[in-house]
Amino acid sequence: MSRSSLELLIVAGWAAQAVNWMWALARSGRRAATPTEWTPELLLRAGVLTLVVWAVIGPPGSRVPLGDLGALLWGVAFLAGHTVAILGRVRLAGAWGIGTRPKADLDAPVRSGIYRLVSHPIYLGISVALIAQLVLLQNLPALLLVVGAAVVNPWKIARERRLLRRKQAPGPGGGHWLLGHVPAFRRDPLAFMRDAVHTWGDVVAFRAGRQRAYLIWRPEHVQQVLQNDPPGGGYSKNVAPLGPMGDVLGRGLVTSTGEEWRRQRQIVQPAFHPRAGAMQSLAATVTSAVTEMMAQWRPGAVVDVHGEMMRLAFLVVGETLFGADLREHAVVVRRALEEIQRQSNQRIDALVSLPLWVPTRRNRAFRQAVATLHGVVSNVIARPGGLGSLLTELRGSMDERLLHDQIVTLLLAGHENSGNALTWMWYLVARHPAVAERLTAELEDVLEGRVPTLDDLPHLPYTRMVAEETLRLYPPGWVTLRRAEEPDEIGGFAIERGAIIVISSYLTHRHPQHWPDPDVFDPERFAESRSAARHRFAYLAFGGGSRRCVGGGFAIAEMQLVLATVAQRFSFELATEAPPLAPLPVVSLPPRDGLRMRVGDSSLIRR
Ligand code: HEM
Repeated sequence: MSRSSLELLIVAGWAAQAVNWMWALARSGRRAATPTEWTPELLLRAGVLTLVVWAVIGPPGSRVPLGDLGALLWGVAFLAGHTVAILGRVRLAGAWGIGTRPKADLDAPVRSGIYRLVSHPIYLGISVALIAQLVLLQNLPALLLVVGAAVVNPWKIARERRLLRRKQAPGPGGGHWLLGHVPAFRRDPLAFMRDAVHTWGDVVAFRAGRQRAYLIWRPEHVQQVLQNDPPGGGYSKNVAPLGPMGDVLGRGLVTSTGEEWRRQRQIVQPAFHPRAGAMQSLAATVTSAVTEMMAQWRPGAVVDVHGEMMRLAFLVVGETLFGADLREHAVVVRRALEEIQRQSNQRIDALVSLPLWVPTRRNRAFRQAVATLHGVVSNVIARPGGLGSLLTELRGSMDERLLHDQIVTLLLAGHENSGNALTWMWYLVARHPAVAERLTAELEDVLEGRVPTLDDLPHLPYTRMVAEETLRLYPPGWVTLRRAEEPDEIGGFAIERGAIIVISSYLTHRHPQHWPDPDVFDPERFAESRSAARHRFAYLAFGGGSRRCVGGGFAIAEMQLVLATVAQRFSFELATEAPPLAPLPVVSLPPRDGLRMRVGDSSLIRR
């Protein structure tokens, strides 16, 4: 094969790349994807490199080292590969390899290493050699084609096209012209989701405003989403449905993403280690706060159980994490939060809402509530942190603004969900006398009337099962959202880039294949023998994957301690005529009408 025909072949190959590139630009309207596939593309590029290098360094008129046939095969493979890729008929392996930013997660350290040490240098080497050759030949059009080729990967485009041609998930269709199915969802989210999966199946498509959204509920699908983080595609938390609530939380651990999130998580997570100060002081804090609370209760009196549990959870998180006594602020903070939450929900429902700076009555109330909350947080910051307090750690590692956001986040995330979980726990125990009986028997056996300590908790398995089963039936974190950063396929259905994935623990916790008699309160489900075979992502009370709740262990221990302390002295009775409580799915999952119960003596005391 002559030198000029070789050059012709190479330029034709790059021209094919250029066509792909332009096609990708036209299709996606933005910079096309970077190369992501390993074997086929590397082989082809290496082949082209061989030809080009030989064209440059080989003596004029000499043959390429592969021989005529080899050179021809490489050229044909190169062109055919791209043509086939354009047509989208190739099924390629996972998205990693040359040009890919490998995932920074722990399941791919070897791949990441290969990428950094081998693939990237090869890829760079190829590009530099090609560019050098083309500069030497002073071939500007070809140079531009090479640059184009460096930023486009037809293999990836092909994969995306193939995914787009996948089956579209079924769903309700229609919806509001602007808001899509948001109004129907907001009207009764739990019913909307339950009806959706029962009518349409495991993956349900609907519209959240102008965006495509997919509701999933099978543990396998949930795992696919929650364990597939960016960078390198996957599903991110870059979804902003919180409205004004998002503004209140700022850039704390719950709302931040990417590197910012990773850094914060590294700072906060150690505070929740079982041997960390916060966990060690948890038992004493809970038992003393509960004892103080119980001192106000008289057998026969009616107690606002929901209010009491919210207050308790707030004090516990404030004291254990920040060493701050927030007693006098508990009620004010609750009121402020209720206002913020109510308005956040209204804003999500409303077609148009005025910006918060417009001085309407509602906006003023909202701003007042935020100011109250921030006032309390400034108070926390101003106090010297207790021994081993998380506050000391945070103060040394972030600026004032972030510190503020972090404390708001931890106070809210750490008390809202726990308070609601504790409320549901008392409600369920009161409705199931057999459970209450087993519980008091365990407490009597293990504690014999004394106050529980952290060391007692492993010996109170039934207490733990009651807490876990409560969180199954009424998971305060009832919904979480993710954004597809790459096109994907879930359960055989296409997921477009940018689509929102809706995951609901409330729904997954009622999947009949994983939870027989899903609506029955049965703590025994969490006995070791029965949970061993269960899918890991069938239980999502604390989420899953890297964004799993940082305070899960803390919350379960807190529930166990409250249950063990109170149940030894008091029981709660529901009025016989009381209708079943309905959950109110807002940011957390409180009982719609609160919970008031009559205080009774515990069976332990009576014996
Ligand atoms: C029963 C009580 C609790 C429940 C049901 C609960 C539930 C959850 C869930 C489901 C998530 C994951 C959200 C998602 O994937 O989008 C989460 C995240 C989080 N939770 Fe909890 N939580 C509880 C208690 C706590 C406590 C006590 C704290 C801290 C004191 C806490 C702090 C956080 C934080 C900071 C995150 C964000 C973690 C991250 O994104 O890295 N939670 N929680």
